[in-house]
Amino acid sequence: MRIYLTRHGESEYNVENRLGGDPGLTQRGREYAHALQCYCKQCDGFPTMCFTSTKKRTIETAAGMAITKIPHAELDEINAGVGEHMTYEEFAAAYPMGDRLRATEKLTYRYPSGESYIDVIERTRQLAVDTLRRGEDILIVCHRAVARALVHHFTGVAPKRVPFIDIPLHSLLVIEDGQMTSVNIDS
Ligand code: F6P
Repeated sequence: MRIYLTRHGESEYNVENRLGGDPGLTQRGREYAHALQCYCKQCDGFPTMCFTSTKKRTIETAAGMAITKIPHAELDEINAGVGEHMTYEEFAAAYPMGDRLRATEKLTYRYPSGESYIDVIERTRQLAVDTLRRGEDILIVCHRAVARALVHHFTGVAPKRVPFIDIPLHSLLVIEDGQMTSVNIDS
C-alpha cells in the first residue's frame, strides 16, 4: 500500500508567512496543483481516492484531479488559536513567552485557545488507523503540522521529532512499508 502525502500548493498566507486561516492558492500554488494533476494522470496505478482537509487551499489543490475526493476536518491545520492569521513575527511580538516555548517545547506547546502538536497527533490518529486498515493506495493533501503528525503515524518516527520534520511546499512524499521517499514532480 502506498500513501502519497503532500501539502497544499502555496497559499496567500504562505507568501505572507501567516499562520492558519483559510486562504486560497497563489498562482504558484495553482501551478503546483496543475503539476500534481498531470503527475496523477501519467502515473500508472496512482490512487483513485484523495483525502483533503476542509480548508480551501487543500480542496483547490486537489480539485482538478479526476479521483474521488473526501474532505476530513481531522486533516485541518494545527489550530494556532490566538495566533491564527498572525505572521510569525506578530505572534512573537504579542506572545513572547509562547514564542519561546515553541522554540524549546514545540511538541507540547499549546497555542492559547488552540492546539499543540500532541493534540494534532491525537486528532489524526484514528484517521491514520482507518486509512491503513483500508489498505488501498491514497493521496492525502493536507498541511505542514498535520503532514508531520501523519508521518509519525505512518512511519513510526518518534513524537519528539514530529514538529521538526521537513515537509516543504510542493513536494510529494510517498510512504510505503513505513519508508518515506520524495517524488519529484515539476511545477
Ligand atoms: O505556515 C504554514 C503553516 O501550515 C501554519 O498554518 C501552521 O501554523 C504552521 O505551518 C505549522 O508549522 P510550524 O509549527 O513549524 O510553525
